[in-house]
Amino acid sequence: MLVSAKEMLQKAVAGHYAVGQFNINNLEWTKAILLTAQECNSPVILGVSEGAGKYMAGYKTIVGMVNGMLEELNITVPVALHLDHGSYDACYKCIEAGFSSIMFDGSHYAIEENVAKTKELVKVCAEKGISLEAEVGSIGGEEDGVIGMGECADPNECKMIADLGIDFLAAGIGNIHGKYPANWAGLSFETLAAIQEKTGDLPLVLHGGTGIPDDMIKKAIDLGVAKINVNTECQLVFAEATRQYIEAGKDQQGKGFDPRKLLAPGTEAIKAKVKEKMEIFGSIGRA
Ligand code: 13P
Repeated sequence: MLVSAKEMLQKAVAGHYAVGQFNINNLEWTKAILLTAQECNSPVILGVSEGAGKYMAGYKTIVGMVNGMLEELNITVPVALHLDHGSYDACYKCIEAGFSSIMFDGSHYAIEENVAKTKELVKVCAEKGISLEAEVGSIGGEEDGVIGMGECADPNECKMIADLGIDFLAAGIGNIHGKYPANWAGLSFETLAAIQEKTGDLPLVLHGGTGIPDDMIKKAIDLGVAKINVNTECQLVFAEATRQYIEAGKDQQGKGFDPRKLLAPGTEAIKAKVKEKMEIFGSIGRA
């Protein structure tokens, strides 16, 4: 059964480790992440962006697929199904579809509107036992070929949102989605420490986990980060393994064109990547 991410992240803060949010894109992705979490006895969060939700034929389809896998694959570790960077409308759609966790990304609104909308969702989620992530200070990334450098959130605004009763907070600390550019300045630990000072034990979320050096990840965990989002890195290893399979001509040997064979190397690569991240985050054996 899907669970809210609230308890798993509170445990992570207390135990000084982080739980990975791995974004899913299809059945292979989902199965690879769930099997790895079970094998590693680790809690896990499956992230679904609005785009991935559309691609996978809607939120209800995803809830059906994930619930089916939990049962058929005997997954007993805590699993949360989480909307990633949700708009106000998407949050309500996912709550209705059966997600166990949502992120409302109001970072592009003025702080007053972010507060008002987040406050409303705190109430709705609490009634249903669904965990809620909010965001302050937008996280950079590539848009139309231009890489926007991540903002640093205002710690006072973080406190305003934290005090509404959310379960965990994503705050920009110079992190960005996708690959980091060569001239990236690194995470702002000064900002992170200032935010932690204002928000206390509230679990903090680090987006843009792809390409952040391990020592920075460890330092972020020391400063209260309890959830780390990874998406691009799994896509890169999947593509690389699939390319090697095709370039070696394996799809042209025997029944190598069978999707169950063609997609297997990429799926195995995702498993290895997820395991590697769980080791760095310290979530292995914490289920
Ligand atoms: P990356 O794609 O950079 O790993 O970021 C993932 C993420 O933060 C999803 O919200």
